[in-house]
Amino acid sequence: MSDFGGLQIDVGGVVLDSPVIIASGVWPMDPSMWPEASLKGIGAICSKGTTLEPREGNRGKRICETHCGLLNSIGLQNGGSVSFVQNDLPALASSGKPVIANIAFETLEELRQIIERLNSERDLIGALEMNVSCPNVSMGGMSWGVDMDSLERAVTEARCKWRGPLWVKLSPQAPSIAVAARICEASGAQAIVVGNTWLGMAIDNDREEPFFERIFAGLSGPAIFPLSLRLIWEAVASVNIPVVGCGGICGPDEALSMFLAGASAVAVGTGLFLDSSLPVSICFKLSRHMENRAIANIKDLVGRGRHFRGETGVAG
Ligand SMILES: Cc1cc2nc3c(=O)[nH]c(=O)nc-3n(C[C@H](O)[C@H](O)[C@H](O)COP(=O)(O)O)c2cc1C
Repeated sequence: MSDFGGLQIDVGGVVLDSPVIIASGVWPMDPSMWPEASLKGIGAICSKGTTLEPREGNRGKRICETHCGLLNSIGLQNGGSVSFVQNDLPALASSGKPVIANIAFETLEELRQIIERLNSERDLIGALEMNVSCPNVSMGGMSWGVDMDSLERAVTEARCKWRGPLWVKLSPQAPSIAVAARICEASGAQAIVVGNTWLGMAIDNDREEPFFERIFAGLSGPAIFPLSLRLIWEAVASVNIPVVGCGGICGPDEALSMFLAGASAVAVGTGLFLDSSLPVSICFKLSRHMENRAIANIKDLVGRGRHFRGETGVAG
């Protein structure tokens, strides 16, 4: 039962009591770190990216704060799919929120094997979220979400094997987000998440060398919000499946803007580091905005900002 009337929504096969999702990689897997109040306003929790085998992550420094964002080069550190199924998944499910299982893979074989493992725990997983920003080794390390043939192959394979709702988290580095979104829809995705971090870099001026061992890193936080909003606007116009808006939300107004642009739900990541009560503030903001305009259900808020100079938001 939702704490906020009218905010329940079905997004790509998952019923969310609130349209605010915790983005992948920022939520502690340990339930002792979740006081009850911290769960308020949260509609679903996305897990840290799981790979088939455990990964130690990148060497060297992993986080660099910028003036209005965060660069991270974590390198998908995780305990692997066996540990995920045995430990993290039951822990996350104990929150009582739907769990969105985020997965990363470098080959189609890895993708198949991860899905096989997760299928055995299908009942604990609200949706599978494919992170396609990771490298495709058969394409020389170019990310799955940047090469459209690779994207199509991966989503088609996942749809064929996975027995539950399938979401794809797109890379902002895709040459065209509209084309990438359409490929996901045509290949069987039930929702797309727009999007992941933007590639950036930092230089350590004292050492006169790149700050991160892998040189480039993912930029998140307030700096990317206007970029994310533009991608959401474009993606919504190109597909009929729901779009989850993600990237740079640090306050409730930004979340509201994403709904007006056509997002059916939002995911918050870096903003939680600044304010752990962000999900609940977003819910209050959405409820107030809807009440002021006599909107009974959040689905009627989705895309209201598109009725602008003839823009309808309907895919064409
Ligand atoms: C520390 C950190 C770890 C992350 N790990 C993952 C991950 O494992 N898988 C993934 O798909 N995205 C990951 N992300 C990306 C976030 O889920 C989110 O898409 C991105 O940070 C943009 O949203 P934000 O500006 O609200 O943080 C990570 C982000 C951060 C900051």
